[in-house]
Amino acid sequence: MYHLLLSAPREYHIIMENPFFLFVHSLLRYGVLLLVAWAGIVHLRGYLLQRPILNGDRALAIAAMVVCHIQLVIGLILYISNFEIYKNMNGEVGRFWKMEHLGTMVIAIILVTVGRMMSKRAKEERIKQRHIAIFYLIALVLILWAIPWPYTAIGHGRGWL
Ligand code: HEM
Ligand code: HEM
Repeated sequence: MYHLLLSAPREYHIIMENPFFLFVHSLLRYGVLLLVAWAGIVHLRGYLLQRPILNGDRALAIAAMVVCHIQLVIGLILYISNFEIYKNMNGEVGRFWKMEHLGTMVIAIILVTVGRMMSKRAKEERIKQRHIAIFYLIALVLILWAIPWPYTAIGHGRGWL
């Protein structure tokens, strides 16, 4: 199984329990990246240029958080429905999916959620903006790092979609 995974990840997808959710999860990475980056940058700009928070800015931060939560639920569905496969997966591939992907993404999604909660609770506009900028942009770096991009060893054979 391990060798099959290393040599032919696409064939391995066919035995995945949930090809539909895998496709949605794969596609939604761009929604997550776009919205988390956009919200982070807009709030950083607002903070640096001392601009007020517009309704659109706030909507962006909420939308980014919602796509992260949807991605979390789909990721959990994929993981739980293929749990037997992941349980028996060892070596680099097993470590990537069980520790690096799952762990880093969960931490990143918690950062986005905490950033939004702290921003919501802060009284001053600039502090609200600073919380979103810092938490979202750190989460963005973690998410970029933990995606199995096709040019990495772990993502070799996977597509961009
Ligand atoms: C495992 C599943 C999920 C967990 C553990 C989770 C956890 C949380 C937490 C801790 C908060 C912050 C509450 C607060 O502000 O005090 C939150 C807010 C929220 N979540 Fe989730 N969530 C999950 C799934 C979802 C899904 C599937 C959706 C949408 C389809 C969603 C939409 C939202 C929205 C809209 C908010 C409030 C956003 C805001 O105004 O800041 N969540 N969630
Ligand atoms: C921001 C959050 C996340 C992003 C951007 C993301 C992105 C991705 C991408 C791009 C893939 C590869 C899809 C493909 O090759 O078709 C993937 C696979 C997967 N992800 Fe995530 N993910 C996130 C969070 C999570 C979380 C929180 C979990 C689990 C709780 C999870 C579990 C999985 C699983 C089980 C797979 C399938 C692995 C396999 O093919 O064996 N993901 N994810």
